[in-house]
Amino acid sequence: MWSCITDFFTYETTKSVVVKSWTIGIINRVVQLLIIAYFIGWVFVHEKAYQVRDTAVESSVMTKVKGFGIYNNRVMDVADYVTPTQGASVFCIITKLITTENQVQGFCPESEPKYHCINDNNCTKYLNKPGGYGIPTGKCVRFNDTMKTCQIQGWCPAEIDYIKTEPMKEVENFTIFIKNSIRFPLFDYTKGNFLPTINKSYISSCNFDMVHHKYCPIFRVGDVIQYAQQDFMKLAHKGGVIGIKIAWMCDLDRGDEHCSPSYSFTRLDAMSQNNSISPGYNFRFAKYYKMDNGTDYRTLVKAFAIRFDVLVNGNAGKFNMIPTLINMVAAFTSVGVGTVLCDIILLNFLKGADQYKAKKFEEVSDTEIDSHINGLYRSQLSLRHDEKQSTDSFSFGHFG
Ligand SMILES: *[C@@H]1O[C@H](CO)[C@@H](O)[C@H](O)[C@H]1NC(C)=O
Repeated sequence: MWSCITDFFTYETTKSVVVKSWTIGIINRVVQLLIIAYFIGWVFVHEKAYQVRDTAVESSVMTKVKGFGIYNNRVMDVADYVTPTQGASVFCIITKLITTENQVQGFCPESEPKYHCINDNNCTKYLNKPGGYGIPTGKCVRFNDTMKTCQIQGWCPAEIDYIKTEPMKEVENFTIFIKNSIRFPLFDYTKGNFLPTINKSYISSCNFDMVHHKYCPIFRVGDVIQYAQQDFMKLAHKGGVIGIKIAWMCDLDRGDEHCSPSYSFTRLDAMSQNNSISPGYNFRFAKYYKMDNGTDYRTLVKAFAIRFDVLVNGNAGKFNMIPTLINMVAAFTSVGVGTVLCDIILLNFLKGADQYKAKKFEEVSDTEIDSHINGLYRSQLSLRHDEKQSTDSFSFGHFG
């Protein structure tokens, strides 16, 4: 019983072999130096492993578009060309409209040439299928002097969406004002994109610019599209989606002024720009009216629009003891990894590798142990145990 206790309260430490060789000595120190440099330079300084990070940024975005355009001899203001009107982080600026006025419920010919027909027999194939602009009736009726098309029941007359119209060029000079407020919940840190350096007179005159006005929250549409490497006229014709990204990379150890937004711009629907089946972005909406006799009529609008998505992401870091300790322990442990490499070189490739092996691994055979008396037997056994472990070291084919 007592011997069990004394056995338990012991300390074991590894026996080391010191190799006095320039080659392996230099390799060892260089490897250690590289590992230390990696941890200090990359892990601690660059990646800031001593900080806890909060990536779950909470954010609110408010937008406001300004500018007047002229379209079809009418002046268009914000209420005409921005939809939805709430000023959220996703909004559309309409650049081109195809309007079909005074539509009422009734029967009329399809407007698209693919519904061209000679007699009713050409139209029966469309029955029970959705038509272009309404439910097909199976009849062939006169569309204009030169063409007959299949008849539909629905809102009439049907929209003619292949007419060519020019987009509203003034959109290029419209401005988007973005108000963004963020919070890092882990540190309870709040900030907005109106930095303390921005005052009222600056905001009334500035325009965002990547170099000189990189914190100005007012963006000219033409600039945004240019920063996203798009051609304004092409985009205005077909429609598209532009992303305005606001990134908050904050080092909260370094004071408030080191937490600033950085803006970047991309086209989000990049896939549709080289796609001939469904290029661009458009949608339809209608305005409804009532005639004196109570029947409804409407104006149908097919709108081509540039949609802007304001995307906010963020990442804040602040010094914390736990990641610092964990990463320091990892660094110290990793310095030991150098030994692995040095052992491989020492025991296999260096001149005199066999002598090093003999020093590193002491061989004890069974017959030797048997010949010893009990007292010594135990110490030999533990030696044998150590030796077994040491075969796990990196000597190829020595014991195997
Ligand atoms: C946009 O504004 C500039 C400068 O104010 C002006 O020269 C240009 O003609 C405007 N562009 C359009 C399409 O109105």
